[in-house]
Amino acid sequence: MKDFSREEIDYVLDTAEKLEPVARGEIRSRLLDGKIISLLFFEPSTRTRLSFEVAARRLGGQVLNLGLVEASSVMKGENLADTIRVISAYSDLIVLRHPLDGSARMASEFTSVPLINGGDGSINHPTQTFLDLYTIRRESHLDGLKIAMAGDLKYGRTVHSLCHALSLYGAEMTFVSPPELRMPSEIVRVLRKQNILVKETESLEEIIGDIDVLYMTRVQKERFPHPVEYEKVSNKLKVTGDLLKAAAPGLKILHPLPRVNEISPEVDETPHACYLEQAFYGVPIRMALLALTTGVIE
Ligand code: NCD
Repeated sequence: MKDFSREEIDYVLDTAEKLEPVARGEIRSRLLDGKIISLLFFEPSTRTRLSFEVAARRLGGQVLNLGLVEASSVMKGENLADTIRVISAYSDLIVLRHPLDGSARMASEFTSVPLINGGDGSINHPTQTFLDLYTIRRESHLDGLKIAMAGDLKYGRTVHSLCHALSLYGAEMTFVSPPELRMPSEIVRVLRKQNILVKETESLEEIIGDIDVLYMTRVQKERFPHPVEYEKVSNKLKVTGDLLKAAAPGLKILHPLPRVNEISPEVDETPHACYLEQAFYGVPIRMALLALTTGVIE
């Protein structure tokens, strides 16, 4: 996200808004006609991979999918640099998701075509942030936003990228987590240096009445060094119908999904639930990112 200014982010969001009728299948487009988009996902994904695929197809592009890592030469010991060099000669753009921190930045040194980070380790998930911002702009408001981010703030890459982007809009941020899963102190320090009001707490009850957006996250089981550590913190925070009795009427709840147990199903029926719309907004956002990075829209 640090590659983007506020003006550039707004431009991506505006472009996504124009493309939304195409994302909904109401208008047909051939903007990516003749372009091949490669999806290299070295970690599980449902929404990011499929919404990139839908975005490319709705714009008339072709998709090349590495598919299961087990079925590729990665299993024979091929390194990421070689994979990227070869795939960039096969395609016009690469989307990469990889478990290693900094992998997207590293891969960008070896590609001859644009490369989009679809999530690198616990560090960044910028395309998720674009769709989060789009959702907030549509369902709430970006300026003067009071947001709480809750759950696994230590390993959750979505909140790391989101903090940076929201600091450009001057949001007030509350971080809600058990002590073991606090937001990395380096991120908090940078936010405070930018004069962002940051609060930290362990309790959703304490803050639920005073926020516009609650951004819930899953505890990132796969990133814990020891399973015992995961068990200790996996059930600490939960949004329930009861908790929401104290919420402001306009409160919107976002979640990048997948959820495990941090939002009870009864919340889905309330006007606060936004996570399914949010997942759909990944399509127009990824259309805008594909169109802008391939240069078919300027
Ligand atoms: C997130 C991710 O992969 O970081 N999922 C997503 O892309 N929508 C969040 C998660 O896995 O918890």
